[in-house]
Amino acid sequence: MAEGQGTTAVESKAPSATIRDIGRHQGARVVVRGWLYNLRESGKLLFPIFRDGTGLIQGVVAKNAVSPEVFAAVKGLTQESSVIVEGTVRADQRAPGGYELDVSNVQVVQRVPDADPYPISLKEHGVDFLMEHRHLWVRSTRQAAILRVRAEIIKAARDFFDDRGFTLTDPPILTPAACEGTSTLFPVDYFEEQAFLTQSGQLYIEATAMALGKVYSFGPTFRAEKSKTRRHLTEFWMVEPEVAYATLDDIMELGEGLISFLVQRCLEKRRSELETIGRDLARLEKIAPPFPRLSYDEAVAMLQEAHAKGALESRFEWGGDLGAPDETYLSSQFDKPVMVHRYPAQVKAFYMEPDPQRPELALCVDVLAPEGYGEIIGGSQRIGSYDLLRQRIHEHGLPEEAFRWYLDLRKYGGVPHAGFGMGIERAVAWICGLEHVRETIPFPRMIYRIYP
Ligand code: 4AD
Ligand code: MG
Repeated sequence: MAEGQGTTAVESKAPSATIRDIGRHQGARVVVRGWLYNLRESGKLLFPIFRDGTGLIQGVVAKNAVSPEVFAAVKGLTQESSVIVEGTVRADQRAPGGYELDVSNVQVVQRVPDADPYPISLKEHGVDFLMEHRHLWVRSTRQAAILRVRAEIIKAARDFFDDRGFTLTDPPILTPAACEGTSTLFPVDYFEEQAFLTQSGQLYIEATAMALGKVYSFGPTFRAEKSKTRRHLTEFWMVEPEVAYATLDDIMELGEGLISFLVQRCLEKRRSELETIGRDLARLEKIAPPFPRLSYDEAVAMLQEAHAKGALESRFEWGGDLGAPDETYLSSQFDKPVMVHRYPAQVKAFYMEPDPQRPELALCVDVLAPEGYGEIIGGSQRIGSYDLLRQRIHEHGLPEEAFRWYLDLRKYGGVPHAGFGMGIERAVAWICGLEHVRETIPFPRMIYRIYP
């Protein structure tokens, strides 16, 4: 058959079905629209496996049950050719999804040419090759399962806040100034003025929190991270709650509540996807409040002890920020996420409220996921004092002019307030048990990758 040309159209009165729900149609004739995933041939029988984005199903094409054209079209059909299939659903205990399709008709919508086959075969490929073909790689069973878990986590995060009286407020993406340090800003030419892609919506939702009480944002954020780690993307999605009159303790409770909710939702609704990915579900079943809390001082003591025992290469000194190996070590000591609070102010962002007991510490928290996944949440109580905030803006070398509006929030009815940000990709990587965040987003952006 000529390239791109199909068999005659499937003009069936049979209802359309998705593979995920095909059991509802047992014994009935249905139409499935999808792609050829794989094909096994055995004389007068063909065993195509179809996928439709919701699942896989094996079809049985018997030579005497279809027209000669249809049999010829399916025989030798190439992987990822698009097909519309009509068949009768039959329960089969041995089949992976519990059902098979006795095929009566097939329309080949577009046949992948023999001379230019689908580049991703069912055998192993290297990661660089797969990343270069990310637009096709997302079709694989495992990648599709990860994307479904991601969608579930995003929906669950929104449900969590929507159901607790939070209002979604969208901060701008083009911003005049830094939120999380000037070293990771992406500059944008904004009509001959310098602007930046946002690093976090926080500063803006502090303003909407003063208007609405409890708010959150969910959107893309950008960091010109020069690091090439398994945790860093240059474009990632963050969910950020901000709460008027809240303290550090309040948002720590909110954070453990959110994380537990996300995990429970995935266990409830995406169990089969997690199984496809190969996640150890027993580890996720343990995720429930309360999470252990560890002060920075206690964390330092643990790290120094680990070094003394030879479990950590370098000795951690009080006053520094935790590096990836330190976070990995700490988080592997607990089977729940651990909340490390009160870091030295000098290693944290300019907007954090000092601890009144020890002003050299910030009222902040990093939540480290277990199994060595490291930080998935960063949050804090925000500076309340106009004068201190202005001083910090100067100490951090930030332009006061760009923060005038932010300072206003401390002038016109300022209140204690707090919030945090959770990186969606870090949460997905941990919940799915993935080696690298690059598989958690359809098209990852990293220092050496902007294609496809
Ligand atoms: O700790 P971060 O930098 O905190 C903030 O941006 C605050 N303004 C949030 C707030 O208080 N509203 O980032 C928050 C989270 C991290 O814990 C991590 O999960 C994720 O965002 N994150 C990244 N994820 C992927 N790639 C990167 N380069 C990331 N940088 C931060
Ligand atoms: Mg952080």
